[in-house]
Amino acid sequence: MVKAVVAGAAGGIGQPLSLLLKLSPLVDELSLYDVVNTPGVAADLSHISSNAKVSGFLPPNEGAKAAFKDADIIIIPAGVPRKPGMTRDDLFNINAGIVKGLIEVAAEVAPKAFILVISNPVNSTVPISAEVLKGKGVFDPRRLFGVTTLDIVRAETFVAEIVGKSNPQELTVPVVGGHSGETIVPLFSKVTPAVTIPDDKYDALVNRVQFGGDEVVKAKDGAGSATLSMAYAGYRFAEKLLKAAKGAKGLVEPSYVYLPGIPGGEEIAKKTGVEFFSVPIELGPNGAEKAIDILGDLTDKEKALLETAIKGLKGNIQKGVDFVHSPP
Ligand code: NAI
Repeated sequence: MVKAVVAGAAGGIGQPLSLLLKLSPLVDELSLYDVVNTPGVAADLSHISSNAKVSGFLPPNEGAKAAFKDADIIIIPAGVPRKPGMTRDDLFNINAGIVKGLIEVAAEVAPKAFILVISNPVNSTVPISAEVLKGKGVFDPRRLFGVTTLDIVRAETFVAEIVGKSNPQELTVPVVGGHSGETIVPLFSKVTPAVTIPDDKYDALVNRVQFGGDEVVKAKDGAGSATLSMAYAGYRFAEKLLKAAKGAKGLVEPSYVYLPGIPGGEEIAKKTGVEFFSVPIELGPNGAEKAIDILGDLTDKEKALLETAIKGLKGNIQKGVDFVHSPP
């Protein structure tokens, strides 16, 4: 029996993500938590004639505890999204506290759950989550994931457009680093099957993958950021993880993780100088079974992108850690 929780379930991402989970044969119980509207969202979804049993929960705290209790997977898109002109880091002041509070509840009532953090800035909210779990003595790095799948989904789509591939999902496009602007590093030299990006299109393509989210923020004109593509991406990652947990082999997806706690990750952390970093992760029954090092043999342009990303990430990570240890 698999119990899945969405925290922030009434929001722009939360609702379509909950719909996809409700449709999944991999989910038996779907628990929806938000500070508003979950009774309505749960009642609505509960009429769909699929397997999962749906419940909605609201605060006060017992609401979150009841929602999270004994969950197998907790997906967190709770918090505020960007408006035009904002960076993901601008969301820190509000979302850091929201994520911290939710992880405290998860640590208490579902310490073995896989936790998937979507709330931005992911570069900082994942370190915050790790520090909270460490503080409660229940941190298993193999079970904590920052969801960067939307960067991979965008990279697949944009590369396919350039190379003229009709089905973008036939491409595997690794994207490493973090999840904001210049910390996002697409590695087009490592695409399988191999592709050739024309020199005159390379810089614009990198920029589009790094700042693709801004296209959506601008087009929505004040009504938020990516929600539908993010719900798809979050579901894609959750589905792979749940399949791997049930024993499916060979499932790999990049994710922003605490590298030193994952087999193969220690060496990558030494190489990059950062502990939190996104690389392709082989998924298995315990979550992240192996961090795959694809940072060898990079092109000079990719090396330069990586260097810039690491500089940015260091500050983002420290900001998250400091938030837990010396709250403002
Ligand atoms: P939204 O504002 O539509 O929904 C957020 C929901 O969180 C709201 O329903 C709100 O009531 C709820 N919420 C607020 N505080 C809460 C709490 N303490 N507990 C439970 N729920 C709470 O925002 P949207 O568009 O769904 O985005 C959510 C987050 O996801 C934002 O931080 C956004 O930046 C991030 N995001 C991440 C992406 C990624 O690739 N990782 C991509 C797109 C967005």
